[in-house]
Amino acid sequence: MRILVTGGAGFIGSALIRHLLNDTKHQVLNLDKLTYAGNLESLASVADNPRYQFLQADIVDQAAVGAALAQFQPDAIMHLAAESHVDRSIDGPAAFIQTNIVGTYSLLEASRAYWSGLPEARKQAFRFHHISTDEVYGDLHGVDDLFSESTPYAPSSPYSASKAASDHLVRAWQRTYGLPVLLTNCSNNYGPYHFPEKLIPLVILNALDGKPLPVYGNGQQVRDWLYVEDHARALLKVVSEGRVGETYNIGGHNEQKNLHVVESICALLDELAPRQADRGAAAGSQAGSYKELITFVQDRPGHDQRYAIDAGKIERELGWKPEETFASGLRKTVNWYLANLDWCRRVQDGSYQRERLGALKEHDA
Ligand SMILES: NC(=O)c1ccc[n+]([C@@H]2O[C@H](COP(=O)([O-])OP(=O)(O)OC[C@H]3O[C@@H](n4cnc5c(N)ncnc54)[C@H](O)[C@@H]3O)[C@@H](O)[C@H]2O)c1
Repeated sequence: MRILVTGGAGFIGSALIRHLLNDTKHQVLNLDKLTYAGNLESLASVADNPRYQFLQADIVDQAAVGAALAQFQPDAIMHLAAESHVDRSIDGPAAFIQTNIVGTYSLLEASRAYWSGLPEARKQAFRFHHISTDEVYGDLHGVDDLFSESTPYAPSSPYSASKAASDHLVRAWQRTYGLPVLLTNCSNNYGPYHFPEKLIPLVILNALDGKPLPVYGNGQQVRDWLYVEDHARALLKVVSEGRVGETYNIGGHNEQKNLHVVESICALLDELAPRQADRGAAAGSQAGSYKELITFVQDRPGHDQRYAIDAGKIERELGWKPEETFASGLRKTVNWYLANLDWCRRVQDGSYQRERLGALKEHDA
């Protein structure tokens, strides 16, 4: 297949592209605006692959997307481009409305125009796969109830409301115009190349710097965690074998309280990169555990209490199951960050963006 991936320079998009290029024969066009969250350094290992192309473009720009579709002639679009950080959506919702809602609308319209003009066999085979979140379902207050594909939408934050709106648009484009769509709603991802503003990388890097490890409220909020490479495998299954018009929930069967996630990272770091004794401490004195850095901070407004996914449909219909447990995935993740502190520092000090701007200017000149 020829697959156009939007948002391929982001956390999940880059994992998907590495999977597509390393484990399949598919051709990939990565269309990404390169916001602060887009980092081409996450694709360095595959950037020279002859089956990979990159185009810097905004999904809101229908003409640019239309030209890319006409030129690349994809068999499938996998749509991941989004503003994705809940805290940023609370501080400044406008970008979320623009990219997640208006951008998805523009992409749907450009896709519809392209798809309408395809010969019948290619038209039948074409797929528009919209990648979304379990946060559209709101939150759960029981201890063992789960989100299913028919759970009513009840988003809480500007982020989840904008993703919910985009899901509705995608379904409407199928119902109204017959565009062959697929949707997936996934739980929290974690793993390599995760932007350091998100909980797991933030805690790893703050701990290594001896900074406080912020935990919202009492830390009892429950999230289901999925290793990002398991998500990439699920997405490939759905775009290749999913039934048109269907939604598949994707989850890791790994429900964890936020405080437990932070404590588990501390325990791994105590083992893999123990704290150095404070300067001035008596020779031979033991440095404490990273857990001592945990600091409870004021809860996020509208904070959802619990997310949990019933991923039975994708398991039954498509035979997908996560390969990582939370323990195995978290150990891989902590090891990855310890081995790739350079990648992290370049994100933290902004050099990944400055050098990119320089390279793009040179390219334009
Ligand atoms: N991270 C999670 O835990 C999670 C869980 C479930 C679903 N999702 C969904 O998966 C998708 C990817 O999430 P992520 O964590 O990789 O996000 P991310 O923030 O790491 O990456 C988003 C990417 O989209 C690009 N982008 C943003 N606006 C754009 C625009 N207007 N035009 C073109 N490109 C644009 C950015 O440059 C970046 O490369 C999102 O749609 C998100 O809602 C994420």
